[in-house]
Amino acid sequence: MSRRLHLEIFRYNPLDPDSVPRMQSFYVNEYDSMTLFIALNLIREEQDPGVQFDFCCRAGICGSCGMVINGRPGLACHTQTRDLPDHIVLHPLPVFKLIGDLSVDTGTWFRNVGKRIEAWVHTDDTAFNPADEESRMENALAEQIFELDRCVECGCCIAACGTARMREDFMGAATINRVARFYIDPRDKRSDDDYYDVIGNDEGVFGCMGLLGCEDVCPKKIPLQDQLGIMRRMLALNSVKGILPKGILDRLRHKGCCHEKH
Ligand code: SF4
Ligand code: SF4
Ligand code: FES
Repeated sequence: MSRRLHLEIFRYNPLDPDSVPRMQSFYVNEYDSMTLFIALNLIREEQDPGVQFDFCCRAGICGSCGMVINGRPGLACHTQTRDLPDHIVLHPLPVFKLIGDLSVDTGTWFRNVGKRIEAWVHTDDTAFNPADEESRMENALAEQIFELDRCVECGCCIAACGTARMREDFMGAATINRVARFYIDPRDKRSDDDYYDVIGNDEGVFGCMGLLGCEDVCPKKIPLQDQLGIMRRMLALNSVKGILPKGILDRLRHKGCCHEKH
């Protein structure tokens, strides 16, 4: 027998001076394969057209429908209601600016950190020549870069991060993963010192408490902890560069203590 779901939704419009933050209850009949996104759409279509939440692709690709689902950040379109109890409590993602109800502005946040880490390939090539032959890359390396490029910027890992919630300048796991993506890209000519300047501080790798909240909630299953570890080791080795003899540093690198730049 299908369940009657009780959805308790955070309601607040920060642009309306009369709006007061509150929880509002809605009820929908569950059916097979219902996602949380479908339940929210039913509420909007049949009960309250004013409920605000974001979506675009409905397939876990655009990253817009992130919200806190019974205390855990996740994507509404990626969440089957059958995996939840019949009482579902929904809040907007913390850390990001609230637009209204369950809708937050992740775009501005990600654009700003993207500028801080200069999230583009820093190459010596000054001009694009369409007549040039395409530059080649080993398949294995291209796949490694693609793996890190799968982030959909949903913000779930940032919302789950204790450090990001305590300090608004913390870049978060998604950003450090993005740095790792450029670090392993052979076309990017930045040195270890350049990377140290970007993430070798409390706003970057050293602010991370390593409690794994980010990786646990990532809907794309990106190995965020591996990237945090690789970046941390690279920075640590870089900071003893002038102290340890080069031979020892090289040996540590070859032992896999540092992800070598290709
Ligand atoms: S491991 Fe680091 S980045 Fe991930 S949630 Fe914890 S503090 Fe945040
Ligand atoms: S790393 Fe995962 S959880 Fe974080 S923003 Fe990207 S897709 Fe979302
Ligand atoms: S609607 Fe695109 S990720 Fe959910």
